[in-house]
Amino acid sequence: MTTIAQPTSDKIQILAHVQYDAPDALSPSTVAPDPLAQFRAWFKAVSTRGSVREPEAMTICTATAAGVPSARVVLLKQADARGFVFYTNYTSRKSRELTENPNAALAFYWREESRQVRVVGRAERVTREESEEYFHSRPRGSQVGAWASKQSTVVQDGEIQARAEKLKERFGAGEVPLPEFWGGWRIVPDEVEFWLGKPSRLHDRVVYTRVEGSSDDAPQWKVDRLAP
Ligand SMILES: Cc1cc2nc3c(=O)[nH]c(=O)nc-3n(C[C@H](O)[C@H](O)[C@H](O)COP(=O)(O)O)c2cc1C
Repeated sequence: MTTIAQPTSDKIQILAHVQYDAPDALSPSTVAPDPLAQFRAWFKAVSTRGSVREPEAMTICTATAAGVPSARVVLLKQADARGFVFYTNYTSRKSRELTENPNAALAFYWREESRQVRVVGRAERVTREESEEYFHSRPRGSQVGAWASKQSTVVQDGEIQARAEKLKERFGAGEVPLPEFWGGWRIVPDEVEFWLGKPSRLHDRVVYTRVEGSSDDAPQWKVDRLAP
């Protein structure tokens, strides 16, 4: 099947019409009462089947105080009762934006399962203890890498590798400490949508919206179906 046609050298035109047909169904009357429980159920099902190579990969969209957005992929490391956690450099572009504007959005796309999960929420830093625990669970090379990279700054070819070599010597065989400029963010959701692909673009969409005034620790949710 031709999926991509390039009729001229200056244009990519996608002609394929991929059909989605997830075997299960999704309805506000059958989903879990809270979106993080529903997310854990979907994530567990997808991970257990092994069909999606890196289901923890998610796009996170941040924005400056003026509302200029930017998006990139990071890895989910924890989905607890309060929200979705990932780790990064606190001086990176995304962290700078989350510090000046905590509003953020996430999107997971699990192509092989015809599923998407979308989150809108507010970012908060995880505790130092949580970052310590995660940092020390990483491979040693990644721990040194975190020290070596002033993430999102302009660098010269080879600069980061040279810095990593020096840091390796400096740390020797001892413990690599958690840099004070590195740690986790938790996206506390106000809205979570589950999307299941169906034929003829008649997809199932179920959205949870936090009831205004309900707390982050015991949120209440309104659950609706959205038109595809
Ligand atoms: C699959 C994948 C996973 C990634 N995971 C992370 C991650 O967990 N944390 C991180 O800081 N960057 C991760 N990155 C790199 C980011 O996409 C991005 O390049 C980096 O964080 C700098 O982003 P920023 O300059 O917008 O802050 C990942 C990239 C890919 C493609």
